[in-house]
Amino acid sequence: MMWRVLMIVLLSLPVSVRADDKLVRLHAPDALIESGLLKHILPRFSLKTQVRIEQVATPDSADLALGSDGRAIFAGLGQTWHMEIRSGDHPGTERLADWLLSDIGQRTITSFAPRGEAPFGPSGAVQQETVEISIDGDAEAGHRVSVEKCTRCHAVDAATTGWGIGSTPSFSVLRALPDWEARFAAFYVLNPHPAFTQITDLTPPFPINRPSPISPIELDLDELEALMAYVAAMTAADLGKPLEHQ
Ligand code: HEC
Repeated sequence: MMWRVLMIVLLSLPVSVRADDKLVRLHAPDALIESGLLKHILPRFSLKTQVRIEQVATPDSADLALGSDGRAIFAGLGQTWHMEIRSGDHPGTERLADWLLSDIGQRTITSFAPRGEAPFGPSGAVQQETVEISIDGDAEAGHRVSVEKCTRCHAVDAATTGWGIGSTPSFSVLRALPDWEARFAAFYVLNPHPAFTQITDLTPPFPINRPSPISPIELDLDELEALMAYVAAMTAADLGKPLEHQ
């Protein structure tokens, strides 16, 4: 035991550090572990920083806990994921927290695409995604917004069906999903939208090296609320039958 401590002290000169500075105890909810994301990102982080990660079962025993508390870092699986630093003044933990928010960390998260699809979205837009979207907006205005901004790809109503791109779900199909509300409220962080969507005063500008590949969509939060009111009021597709609009 003694020689190990000594080794670590010698190896980590000139700064004197605690022996466990290079070990971060991380807690993550099962859903996140099962998604495979951690297996994708953590080894990359450790390789780069020599900081090892040990997964622990409870937030209480963790240096850093992923879940619903703390700072938003990315979105996916229908929610925004946050991180909470639980042990102060711990270099390894700070390193991991910084890395998760860094460009490299974010790219590592969004590049995770187990079956060709990336389940986790970028953090830029997500950091403020906690904005509450209510659905008591103006449904008629929402209809206009949808027709104007979304019909390029989506069938928004019966009249716009013809414009819909085949593989893109129609609004009435999306409306039939039990979590339609979460999907619409966060559509701008769900692929493929982040690449071409801006929410006024909410999303950061497109990165200089990744400008929108198509003419971008911009809407403000009032328009998004109105859009949600429209979707809330629309008739959902009967997913048991071939798609049809009322
Ligand atoms: C350039 C094409 C394009 C435009 C414009 C577009 N979408 Fe989409 N949208 C897509 C595609 C493609 C999908 C399917 C993504 C998938 O299945 O992974 C999608 C999926 C969605 C989903 C479901 C997302 C999910 O992961 O569950 C929502 C909600 C949505 N769009 C809302 C909107 C709204 C609201 C607008 C207009 C403000 C809009 N989209 C504009 C292409 C577009």
